[in-house]
Amino acid sequence: MRPSESGKRVDLYGASYRNFATDLYADIRREAFGEDIGQTGWLAAEEQDLFLEWLHLSRSSQLLDLACGSGRPTLRIAQKTGCHVSGVDLHTEAVASAKASARELGYEGRTKFYQGNAAERLSFANASFDAITCIDAINHLPDRPHVLEEWRRVLKPGGCLLFTDPIMLTGPMTNAEITIRASIGLFVFVPAGYDEKLLKQAGFEVERVEDRTQNMAVNAAGWLEARAKRETDLRKIEGDEVFFGQQRFLETAAILARERRLSRFAIVARK
Ligand SMILES: C[S@@+](CC[C@H](N)C(=O)[O-])C[C@H]1O[C@@H](n2cnc3c(N)ncnc32)[C@H](O)[C@@H]1O
Repeated sequence: MRPSESGKRVDLYGASYRNFATDLYADIRREAFGEDIGQTGWLAAEEQDLFLEWLHLSRSSQLLDLACGSGRPTLRIAQKTGCHVSGVDLHTEAVASAKASARELGYEGRTKFYQGNAAERLSFANASFDAITCIDAINHLPDRPHVLEEWRRVLKPGGCLLFTDPIMLTGPMTNAEITIRASIGLFVFVPAGYDEKLLKQAGFEVERVEDRTQNMAVNAAGWLEARAKRETDLRKIEGDEVFFGQQRFLETAAILARERRLSRFAIVARK
């Protein structure tokens, strides 16, 4: 049995952030996504550009990016719009990488990155931000009603929330598929329509709900293939358990998305 078939938890984010700056990982991101924007989810550059059209950020806007990962997607927003950005992520290495990238770009004056748990009370004052983004990470935060309440608290009146939920159940899944798909950390699986219902209960106005499952199907398959081509090098730095665990995770993510059994939606809501 390959290690990944044991159903053990796979430290995908830890491995991603520890090796984030290596040429090997950058090449994989470039090949999988077309452009390396430092993503660790399913976000591609064109999709972020689309999200920016929805967000209408200006140079004076304050954006909070929750579960910002490497911070590079967040910094790309700062670069494209001139806005001020704050990012929070649980992983220490991710935040260190975000701070280093901000320094390299000379953006320290208008960017702030914090290590923190986005599932808990956020360390920001009420009405601090014009916009909040949370890309491919809401599924890692338990107690969604509390999370949405916090997001609403730190948004200014009229502020915009944009998040993607990549773990929306839209078809049947076996117990083995659930185990593999959830093998990289805490996962909350929700039925279609759940987010909209909670947003309304939290006092948000839902403005847009768009199916972005295709992105997940294409990018998971691309990522799987780009990594498979570099198996020897990856097994040396990740070890067999993490390598095969990640491959199995990506393969399952690609199949479930392609068959529209697990979907990814982008949702825009206003305070
Ligand atoms: C799929 S990645 C997406 C990262 C980034 N948004 C992007 O699009 O590249 C999910 C991120 O959620 C972070 N995360 C997981 N649980 C978290 C929590 N409780 N608080 C803050 N970040 C968390 C992980 O460290 C990881 O960076």
